[in-house]
Amino acid sequence: MTHSEFDLKHWQQALSGKGPRPILRTALTHFDHIALAFSGAEDVALIDMACRIRDDISVFTLDTGRLHPETYRFIEQVRERYPIRLDILSPDAEALRELVQNKGLFSFYRDGHQECCHIRKVAPLQRKLATLDAWISGQRRDQNPDTRQRIPEVALDPSFQGKSGSLIKFNPLANWTSEQVWDYLEAFDVPFNELHRRGFRSIGCEPCTRPTLPHQHEREGRWWWEEGAKKECGIHRKPE
Ligand code: ADX
Ligand code: SF4
Repeated sequence: MTHSEFDLKHWQQALSGKGPRPILRTALTHFDHIALAFSGAEDVALIDMACRIRDDISVFTLDTGRLHPETYRFIEQVRERYPIRLDILSPDAEALRELVQNKGLFSFYRDGHQECCHIRKVAPLQRKLATLDAWISGQRRDQNPDTRQRIPEVALDPSFQGKSGSLIKFNPLANWTSEQVWDYLEAFDVPFNELHRRGFRSIGCEPCTRPTLPHQHEREGRWWWEEGAKKECGIHRKPE
């Protein structure tokens, strides 16, 4: 099915306030050209759920080249554990070479993270999404009080195009809290990134992620030198 055949208005109403399973089921039963974006963190819960619905799940991960060694090992563990097709996406070599040649390996501390994130995450994502009709992300409303409070269960992606024009984006974890995700991982004995044991709650690239203290919001561990509203890299644009 393509975006124009999918009754978006109907499904937006039907899935409003729902938990991950009905949202995932809707996504996976309507679209063939669909893939799940896996960050190497607790969003592994979606892979576990998706594999219970279909046995030919496509998953992709944006390998920025700057992930923690623990995250690479975890991604491999997930690849071995589940019957998924995992696409590991690299940045464009020429664009990356130009960036690091001109600005070095840590330009994000000085210039902000957007330029580096664009080359290492957004552009590879854009190329991948151009082959799909729909994608699935693990975003939750409770992840970022500044930018994610109104993320929809399903919507047209406001930033990217798919293979036949507009692209549908599903956020099955939109209504779940971090606690519910962790409860699921424990209940179904799902493997998790060992960084979580060391105080990391939100996990991104190694130079741009640090553990948080109990009283801090999880997002405070990401791009900590920047303000809350800027803590998005362009993968997920805030809905208007
Ligand atoms: S980010 O934009 O700030 O990096 P976040 O870490 O909150 O995103 O993750 C939210 C969702 O974005 C993940 O569940 C996943 O769907 C997608 N995502 C984030 N980072 C990656 C990545 N490196 N590869 C694939 N998907 C990712
Ligand atoms: Fe670059 Fe940091 Fe963005 Fe990773 S999170 S792509 S290292 S700026």
